[in-house]
Amino acid sequence: MLARKLFSQILILFCLAAAITAQAQSLPNVTILATGGTIAGTGATSTTTVGYTAAKIGVEALIDAVPELKKVANVKGEQVFQIASENMNNEYWLKLAKRVNTLLSQSDVDGIVITHGTDTIEETAYFLDLVVKSRKPVVIVGAMRPSTAISADGPINLYNAVLLAGSKEAVGKGVLVTLNDQINAAREVTKTNTSTLDTFKTPELGYLGYIQGSKPFFYRQSTRKHTVESQFDVSGLDQLPQVDIVYGYANMNPIALNAFVAAGAKGIIHAGVGDGSLNNTVLPSLVEARKKGVVIVRSSRVGQGIVARNGEADDDKLDFVVSDTLNAQKARILLMLALTKTTDTKEIQKIFWEY
Ligand code: SIN
Repeated sequence: MLARKLFSQILILFCLAAAITAQAQSLPNVTILATGGTIAGTGATSTTTVGYTAAKIGVEALIDAVPELKKVANVKGEQVFQIASENMNNEYWLKLAKRVNTLLSQSDVDGIVITHGTDTIEETAYFLDLVVKSRKPVVIVGAMRPSTAISADGPINLYNAVLLAGSKEAVGKGVLVTLNDQINAAREVTKTNTSTLDTFKTPELGYLGYIQGSKPFFYRQSTRKHTVESQFDVSGLDQLPQVDIVYGYANMNPIALNAFVAAGAKGIIHAGVGDGSLNNTVLPSLVEARKKGVVIVRSSRVGQGIVARNGEADDDKLDFVVSDTLNAQKARILLMLALTKTTDTKEIQKIFWEY
């Protein structure tokens, strides 16, 4: 009698273990790479939603705060670095991109989530979009409220990001940014509000989709080259060419531009007014810089729309490049990568039409 009872208990335990193993095997394997930001931030009180400290809590604490993750993926965490994203730089990008490519080349990794500060999330996302060598999902996520705040948005954003990174729907879509239940493409997304939860938008072109009821819904995708179609490769790189941004405004002067060129800039993004227009006080310095071999890209401070080639400037004659719809901070990234391949402005213009 006792032996029979013992046997049935062992059988139950065995079945339970088998069920747990079967569930784990059917779930995608998602690695979370933590880099800091508000999602890992802490404030003095639960109502502190500004004036908190970003990048305080580690990846294991982020994962432990969302036990629901275990239901949608087999999750592993790695702390790649721990910074507020205003301190993001080219070296961090190269380190992160190499780690992402290594992990995605492994058969036991199905997708990657990167936790990141929101201030430069759009730049990191676009950089990775251009250099990741895989169709597997890469999802970047942040939060607008620190982890200690009432209604912190980090946990639900992280849950959505893991869900997305483990989904079939996200395969081949390029690097994605998700916050606030919305999915955006790396090339197009931008931060539009200093502090609200719905800050991330793709102005005019719109979101790729939403996450609702633990399921991603896609409605469109970016038409530009990314990830496996991209020619850019950071595997052998330990630095990127210096490219700086000058911002257009009334009464503009060329002091900053000249300083960048004197400091060795290989490229300048000019975020001009309107359709990338150039102030008369700055044009001679741009022409001089181009003569010295500096590549000049005309972008716009407006944030939406195409900068027309040969529109507000004679780009053919000046030998300038236009940024298409890329904002200045993303044009900087594409130009840095383009300069790792060529200094030919015709080739670089082609790159700006394609990526
Ligand atoms: C940061 O970008 O690291 C701080 C701001 C944020 O994450 O929202």
